[in-house]
Amino acid sequence: MNHQKSRLGLAVLALSLSVTPALASGQAPSLRTLASARGLLLGGAISGELFNADNPDEAATINREYNAVVAENAMKMRAIANSPDPDNYLFATADAMVASAQKNGQTVRGHTLIWHDSAPAWVYEIQEKTAMRAAMTQYITTVVKHFGNRINIWDVVNEAISDGPGNPLRNNNPFAVAGPDFIALAFRMAHAANPAARLCYNDYSVEGLNGKSNAMYALVKGLLADGVPIHGVGFQSHLDTNFSVRDSGMQANLQRFRDLGLDVQLTEVDVQMVGSGSEKEKLARQAQVYGELLSTCLAVKCSAFMMWGVSDLTSWRAGGKPLIFDGDYVKKPAYGALIKVLQTAGK
Ligand code: XIL
Repeated sequence: MNHQKSRLGLAVLALSLSVTPALASGQAPSLRTLASARGLLLGGAISGELFNADNPDEAATINREYNAVVAENAMKMRAIANSPDPDNYLFATADAMVASAQKNGQTVRGHTLIWHDSAPAWVYEIQEKTAMRAAMTQYITTVVKHFGNRINIWDVVNEAISDGPGNPLRNNNPFAVAGPDFIALAFRMAHAANPAARLCYNDYSVEGLNGKSNAMYALVKGLLADGVPIHGVGFQSHLDTNFSVRDSGMQANLQRFRDLGLDVQLTEVDVQMVGSGSEKEKLARQAQVYGELLSTCLAVKCSAFMMWGVSDLTSWRAGGKPLIFDGDYVKKPAYGALIKVLQTAGK
């Protein structure tokens, strides 16, 4: 054995250990390590695939990379309450997800209490204001109390704003039977059931400065003025590679919500690969959008960056390959872009 060489090797090892422990042990830092060091929740949506023993990469990737998770569907009304009777609520899948999160040191975002798109048939049968208020109160109270302090962030109301001109509230919302204050009611009930929880309004196509984000701004400002317990806004961020963070005015938009004293969270990020160009070019463009989304989020001191899934295999928009791991759970350029932002932003 060449002693000189081994001494040199030891010296290099010692140096690298003192500088970058994660790299010296042969491991690149994970997203969650870097995010946690910044106090940022970073993670994504989980589905039944988490428990699929035939696809161990799903759980392994989520638990290696994410410090926060959100149920893709398991906490929606249609999953929990196909019956109006609270004794018949179905919590098994959601509870298993929360148990997995606790075991893996992950924060859980609760998604979502009041969403027109997930209302079961029995909700549509309620046509009278008092009955709808009672049904909403019972549902929200039962669900929020069931999870208790296991879930301290909730999307209380999801997608209530219309996409139409003028962007009033959407008119196909069965919960609106409860009265024009049905959003305020939902937040008040959730707050009463878990006073420690951060309560969010969540919507899509509100990332940049536009008519819909103006409507959302007016909505949450009005809620705050009325003393409604709302603490944050979720910007879903279902986007594609044509989206321009800069041209959309996203930072100024997020900042105006921060200036109201609200938490800002990107809650369902995915960036579909669209347009012409080679696969390599599209991956590069996707990485650029992901990197800009995260740096903009950090620039306004957002509190969460959540993606809608983990790999292109099981994404709800799998055709657009919108996530940061490919169908084989291999890191895409977008993964590297997020790591780079976490390592360098503000430093
Ligand atoms: C989607 C899920 O990903 C699908 O599996 C389901 O069929 C429909 O809902 N906005 C939301 C999410 O707030 O709850 C939606 O999730 C995607 C759009």
